[in-house]
Amino acid sequence: MSVLVPTMGALHKGHQALIKRARTLDKEVIVSIFVNPLQFENKEDIEKYPRTPERDIEIATIAGATQVWFPEFEDLYPEGFQTLNAGPLGSIFEGASRPGHFDGVVTVVNRLFALTKPSKAVFGEKDFQQLSIIKAMKSKVEIIGVPTVREFDGLAMSSRNLRLTQEGRNSALVVNRALSAARLAPTVEIAIEILNSTLSTEAGFKKDYATVIDENDFSIATETTQSKRAIIAGWVEGVRLIDNMPMAGR
Ligand code: PAF
Repeated sequence: MSVLVPTMGALHKGHQALIKRARTLDKEVIVSIFVNPLQFENKEDIEKYPRTPERDIEIATIAGATQVWFPEFEDLYPEGFQTLNAGPLGSIFEGASRPGHFDGVVTVVNRLFALTKPSKAVFGEKDFQQLSIIKAMKSKVEIIGVPTVREFDGLAMSSRNLRLTQEGRNSALVVNRALSAARLAPTVEIAIEILNSTLSTEAGFKKDYATVIDENDFSIATETTQSKRAIIAGWVEGVRLIDNMPMAGR
């Protein structure tokens, strides 16, 4: 049996953490690298997605991958393939802003599972909604989530960060500031206020959403919610950034 770490390449320390976690689970670790056109809403975003295959092989191997796999479109999507539906979680928050995105994600993950037949697969908590949707796929593959890896200044690691200028990168730090402050708030209402007021201090950040959700169904959390998480999405220099943190009091 093996553990699969599905990625779209441009590997960074966040991916290394996934691969290292996978290696603790099994000695066979497959890293797949495929920029999945089905999960992008526009062509420009696919074209701009960073591609660093040689570096990826090096990073994956050093982190402990035993196989680095670059499937072709035809391998994953034979003629007549069917797009899967991501279900109710697929059309809110990220799904509302990126229609069809999660259908593309579950479709590719399903195909990757079918072709590699892993016993486990590892995904990052940075894409928390994606992780929840993949867990809800109820496949035989056990899904393991790994906490977000951050830069020294708190910026969540993401392949998209490579597209930010230094100024944009500075603006992006507001996301970590907002989440770090909000997670300590005494109530959900105050947490949401802190998210919004902190984000509004940064002119370079264009908010899409910022709120506190119930981790189980992504409804807006109430005081009695057991597992609460603050989530943010927005754009800096046209680059979409998402991040989240569990609330300290939960
Ligand atoms: O998180 C990603 O990199 C992608 O959405 C995934 C899971 C590899 C599917 O293409």
